[in-house]
Amino acid sequence: MATRTIPADWYTTTESLAHDRATALRQGWQYIGPATDVAEPGSFTTGDLAGLPIVITRDVDGTLRGFANVCRHRGALVAEGCGRRRTLQCRYHGWTYRLDGTLHRSPGMTLDEDVRLPAIAVATLGPLLFAAADPRTEPLETALGPFLDLLDRVAGVELGRLVHRCRLEHTIAANWKVVVENFIECYHCPLVHTETLPGYGDDNYRIGQFGSLHTQHLDDQRFCFAYLFPTTQLSAYGHESAFVARAITPEGPDRTRVALDYWFLDDCADDAAGRYVEWFERVIGEDKPLCESVQHGLASGAIDRGYLNPDAEAGLAAFQQLLLDAFDDA
Ligand code: FES
Ligand SMILES: [Fe+2]
Repeated sequence: MATRTIPADWYTTTESLAHDRATALRQGWQYIGPATDVAEPGSFTTGDLAGLPIVITRDVDGTLRGFANVCRHRGALVAEGCGRRRTLQCRYHGWTYRLDGTLHRSPGMTLDEDVRLPAIAVATLGPLLFAAADPRTEPLETALGPFLDLLDRVAGVELGRLVHRCRLEHTIAANWKVVVENFIECYHCPLVHTETLPGYGDDNYRIGQFGSLHTQHLDDQRFCFAYLFPTTQLSAYGHESAFVARAITPEGPDRTRVALDYWFLDDCADDAAGRYVEWFERVIGEDKPLCESVQHGLASGAIDRGYLNPDAEAGLAAFQQLLLDAFDDA
């Protein structure tokens, strides 16, 4: 019997997104961007963990740290963009924080308690920067272990040799779960990506599930892919010396931002890298209207639960189970 999908209204309502944010979207490691932004002591960068604004610093002693980017006074952001500073100053009333998160100054008032920015976990993998809202999250290399093995064995892509080329962002008029689900099945590939992904979705397509990590690979294409629950997707293409990191950020129940960081091995020719980016953006361009079409259909109220292909959509079944588990854990 085919597995049924989660209910349609879990993709469409403000309440449902708020519930996702309070549960699933606060779990696990999430890709943030290039770690080079915080390579130097005294540097910082900002990001967003599905609605939780964060700031990541490289302390003056070289320690990488992460915090909620939320002022302890009354909640304004304490940092924007990225750069280098000795302290982070909130623009509202001027409270300042050291790069280790402790309060340095609170103009005109003295606090008799230890006030600091709430800590999150941060980690790097080669030049990639990740964060996790819960400091007790398992080590990043453990969470991504099977993918790191595929990177080495199938794609032959060495993370330490990657150079960041560009970030391109898309806004998709669909729920974040629709976007995640589109990227973790290739059931649609033979019909939708006929020219862009020939040979994908065939019998040689291998998928794996390791706790919160879903993997796919194609040996002959030197391709491997990871989806790390809830919002991170990583793809490596050995033939093209390319690596793409996608960060998926919900902006509303029917609006999702996808940031794509394009990385290439240090010896990849510039024009080859340019052609690759163009090709990958074509694939995204093919997927985007389909995600939006799914959102339109789900919001119509015409269907409640869909059906999952037990083989080709096993990744979706695993994703929906992780979601249910996150709801249970909350
Ligand atoms: S909210 Fe940050 S100083 Fe007032
Ligand atoms: Fe697709």
